[in-house]
Amino acid sequence: VRAKGIVVERADPAVHLRSALESDGPFLTEMLVEAFAWRPGAPQPSVSDALARPEIGRYVKEWPRCGDFGLIAEQSGSVGAIWFRHFSADDAGYGFIADDVPEITMAVVPSWRHRGVGRLLLATLIDQARQQGLKRLSLSVEPDNFALVLYRSLGFQVVGQVGGAMTMAVQL
Ligand SMILES: CC(C)(COP(=O)(O)OP(=O)(O)OC[C@H]1O[C@@H](n2cnc3c(N)ncnc32)[C@H](O)[C@@H]1OP(=O)(O)O)[C@@H](O)C(=O)NCCC(=O)NCCS
Repeated sequence: VRAKGIVVERADPAVHLRSALESDGPFLTEMLVEAFAWRPGAPQPSVSDALARPEIGRYVKEWPRCGDFGLIAEQSGSVGAIWFRHFSADDAGYGFIADDVPEITMAVVPSWRHRGVGRLLLATLIDQARQQGLKRLSLSVEPDNFALVLYRSLGFQVVGQVGGAMTMAVQL
């Protein structure tokens, strides 16, 4: 543990995790676009279009806000990110459950997927959230996204449905 947060080194996958900083805002935005347009072949909005859409932009706007926390996976540059942010009932994110349950967003750059980076990011974030004293984390996922398998395997359970998407939560 270092003053600015955590540092995790892993040989397999060969990545280094660190806390996300203010300067990581642009990379988080790129990963946000990947998470929104996750379906292979889906048209991806440009970063500026994504930011201009409040329902997307609110996940990274003014990063970092009080209570935000994130991790960056690095391997000669950033290869993935995961972060959580608190929302309120007035401005509920897609995976909103309660004010004190922050919502997760995550993505790995396409060339680094399916190599264990996502699992490492999520498992480490869960650990960090527990150490911060949080009680639950939530997220929203479409039922045909294989990320659902990852979420279940790390303890997330379906707690609701919004439109076609599942809201999932993990007890910490
Ligand atoms: C979802 C995502 C973050 C997962 O990260 P990743 O590094 O690819 O995932 P991992 O390699 O750690 O795999 C984790 C688990 O996912 C599942 N998985 C991975 N690749 C898979 C594939 N091709 N098909 C089916 N399941 C797969 C497996 O259950 C795997 O478990 P295992 O560790 O027992 O093999 C990443 O694929 C991604 O960025 N996808 C696009 C954006 C997105 O969908 N974000 C989430 C929106 S809710």
